[in-house]
Amino acid sequence: MKQIVFATNNKHKLQEIREIVGDKLTISSLIDIGCTEDIPENEPTIEGNALAKARYVKEHYGFDCFADDTGLEVEALNGQPGVRSARYAPGEGHDSQANMKLLLENMKDKQNRRARFRTVIALIADGKEQLVEGIVNGNITEQPSGTDGFGYDPIFTPEGFDKTFAMMTSEEKNSISHRGRATRKLLDILKNL
Ligand code: IMP
Repeated sequence: MKQIVFATNNKHKLQEIREIVGDKLTISSLIDIGCTEDIPENEPTIEGNALAKARYVKEHYGFDCFADDTGLEVEALNGQPGVRSARYAPGEGHDSQANMKLLLENMKDKQNRRARFRTVIALIADGKEQLVEGIVNGNITEQPSGTDGFGYDPIFTPEGFDKTFAMMTSEEKNSISHRGRATRKLLDILKNL
């Protein structure tokens, strides 16, 4: 069976993609291939980070692979936090409460609350590099609502809904989310490998 590496150790993302792919492909994680170092994510764009992670795995470990990167792009903030979404608030990064608080502060006087989540997946397979993208448009709320999900979910309402991502079941969120959309495009490519 063909093997492909997903450049992540996020168990949730791995489980999700393994369930969808079934037994057609073996999806390995970074730990599975003995990659325990932090892969640099210092590029100025979401595309750049996704590609950098995939290229790192290909160059250092030799496997065909794919890597994802996601950002929340807010119109009134000129696309911020964007590629810096995980590290928006000062500190170590990945502090969702601090990131949301800072974003709501920066949005205090803004009438235009339009925003979008954007995921890019970079795939390196059969000697080719390919990028796929998934976008969900929506609005930044005035205050957090809901307890499910992660990251900025409590302050993002997808277009056509009157509840935040954090008020949705994971099935409901996956069916419309940026990552769900990008993953389905990736699977169309993987199925034909
Ligand atoms: P990553 O590239 O998937 O690690 O995402 C970068 C950052 O974007 C995360 O740390 C979260 O803050 C945010 N993010 C990514 N996906 C989502 C989502 O589905 N909901 C809310 N926040 C997200």
